[in-house]
Amino acid sequence: MHMYKSSIISVTYKHLVKPILFRFDPETVHDLFLQVGKILGRFSITKSLTRLLFSYQHPSLEQTIHGIPFKNPVGLAAGFDKDAQLINILPHIGFGFAEIGTVTYKPYEGNPKPRLYRLIQTKGIIVNYGLKNLGVKKIIQRIQKQKDPEFPLSVSVGKTNSSATSSTRNGINDYYNCLKELVKSNTGNFYTINISCPNTFGGEPFTTEERLKKLLFKLNSLKISMPIFLKMPINLPWKEFKKLLDIAMQFKISGVIIGNLNKDHHSKAIKDLIPLDIKGGISGKPTWELSNNLISKTFQTYGNRFIIIGVGGIFSAEDAYEKIKRGASLLQLITGMIFEGPQLIGDINKGLVELLNKDGYTNISQAVGTYNIK
Ligand SMILES: Cc1cc2nc3c(=O)[nH]c(=O)nc-3n(C[C@H](O)[C@H](O)[C@H](O)COP(=O)(O)O)c2cc1C
Repeated sequence: MHMYKSSIISVTYKHLVKPILFRFDPETVHDLFLQVGKILGRFSITKSLTRLLFSYQHPSLEQTIHGIPFKNPVGLAAGFDKDAQLINILPHIGFGFAEIGTVTYKPYEGNPKPRLYRLIQTKGIIVNYGLKNLGVKKIIQRIQKQKDPEFPLSVSVGKTNSSATSSTRNGINDYYNCLKELVKSNTGNFYTINISCPNTFGGEPFTTEERLKKLLFKLNSLKISMPIFLKMPINLPWKEFKKLLDIAMQFKISGVIIGNLNKDHHSKAIKDLIPLDIKGGISGKPTWELSNNLISKTFQTYGNRFIIIGVGGIFSAEDAYEKIKRGASLLQLITGMIFEGPQLIGDINKGLVELLNKDGYTNISQAVGTYNIK
């Protein structure tokens, strides 16, 4: 029944809805998604209808990680619901969790437009929002009105994008102030420290060992009881990436999200011509291989020390399963949903159940990291 419904939605999305949406500026379409999602999340009837059409759940997808029960491993990645507008509809679409933000202490209206650019042949998006968001205080108010408190939310914390936070000291204080607001108000189920936003003033200053250590040392003083994840860059060679993980090992970091956008505009996965004036990190297929290699190496080196959330270029259940077998316990996506349609979430979950069955596993946790062992 699910496959039947979802095939109809998939064909309709790909052949009717997407060709129309893709004629419009990508940010306009993103804003339209947010408006529609906000309305659907307001009423019981629209939520039930959405659930009926899209959601797929199965006991073999359920896991409890660091005390948080996840109904399935597929999460919405940071950047789609920056200002917590969709939290009441995302569980009904079939997501297992969502990451809000990236949120910063002060609001930021975003880099000058255009800040999204589609790479249609490549199946990717160039993103240059520069951490646009309403600021942590406003976003906390929204999250506290969440109607389904059982739906796990992570809040991604970044550094306010402005020249005032570009020194290491001010940058660290800015992260600290943002996280402090979240901790004080007990908002969300876990936090992600985003050290890898490529589009901000001053670049990515916390992807060096010394500065990351200073940042984590300061954040440690907040005595946070909730799990904390680090959102990792994917353009670092393994040796450099590992140095950051070795720093994270010294602190109460529960997991790593691997990873963020691909900064390389010459990646071999890019099939479209990118105009020279288009700036930003690239999502989708160009993140697939980089993220997969880093997931495998992280799992092989650190085992269960870090829970891995695998992100980057997931467009199918097979893609999702590959990241799980490489070592990811949870997954996140955005671009796959934009290119394939919102039924992708249920399709991935259904496909995962079939793939698990085929391999003789009764729960997703049994498949985590198995690819590396063989
Ligand atoms: C429109 C857009 C906005 C994004 N904004 C953020 C952000 O604010 N913080 C962040 O950590 N990652 C951000 N990302 C990166 C995603 O969270 C994710 O790491 C990346 O897109 C790879 O996943 P995907 O291929 O499934 O899209 C953004 C991605 C997209 C497409």
